[in-house]
Amino acid sequence: MTPSAAQLLLFSLLILGSPATAATCSSCFSRSRAVHYPDSDRRGTETGACEYGALGATLYGGDVSAASKLYRNGVGCGACYLVRCTIRGYCSRDGVVVVITDHGASDSADFILSQHAFAKMGRSASAGAALLALGVVDVQYRRVPCSYPKKNITFKMDHSSDFPYYFAFQIWYQQGDRDIVAVQLCETESLTCKLVDRSHGAVWAVAMPPRGPLSARMLLSGDDGDVTWLVPPNDVPEDWRAGAMYDSGIQVYS
Ligand SMILES: *[C@@H]1O[C@H](CO)[C@@H](O)[C@H](O)[C@H]1NC(C)=O
Repeated sequence: MTPSAAQLLLFSLLILGSPATAATCSSCFSRSRAVHYPDSDRRGTETGACEYGALGATLYGGDVSAASKLYRNGVGCGACYLVRCTIRGYCSRDGVVVVITDHGASDSADFILSQHAFAKMGRSASAGAALLALGVVDVQYRRVPCSYPKKNITFKMDHSSDFPYYFAFQIWYQQGDRDIVAVQLCETESLTCKLVDRSHGAVWAVAMPPRGPLSARMLLSGDDGDVTWLVPPNDVPEDWRAGAMYDSGIQVYS
């Protein structure tokens, strides 16, 4: 390697930064690309892989995204990212905060944003329209806490639930910037607990759940590897039903 090539390599490493640094630096941005959903619908999709249904299109006012590697087999569902594009004169410094509600890969982009979110990266409406016309842009992104000030974490019983044999639910309004990596369902009197599996996306499911009022405990895991069990004050009633929503009574701030 000639010295000039080595210098060039060093130069490009400095410019690109390293993913290892990004993972340990909460205020640092990683680099990628973003595209947008082709739909004429400016919001996200109701059929996203996370299985939030219509919520998957309307969370954060429609500022939602599909993720490719950040989807992490469903663990990434519900995570929030600050995404900002980098075209001078067009992109706002604030970027847009999006929630992951779907899985997808396109054009080596980490994000497939709703058109609503994609346009919001622009510093004005006309800049947003110009970005949309480009279709793909370089972006910087970092994980940020999700915030739903008027919502508690809510268990939405999945349509696949079948009382009392099959307990399946989605976790709505996931808050903070930690992942939910495990869920335990505990019968509140005998404290018989059963581990619930992530079935797919944001859907957790277990066959033959304990009977009686149920406490759905969530294991949160942060970037630093710290784990905490979150024990909600409200139980899921013993006569739970497919389609019902149960308020956990808890909010998470970090
Ligand atoms: C959240 O749960 C608390 C109980 O822990 C309750 O007082 C409050 O009304 C709930 N908030 C919402 C928005 O449902």
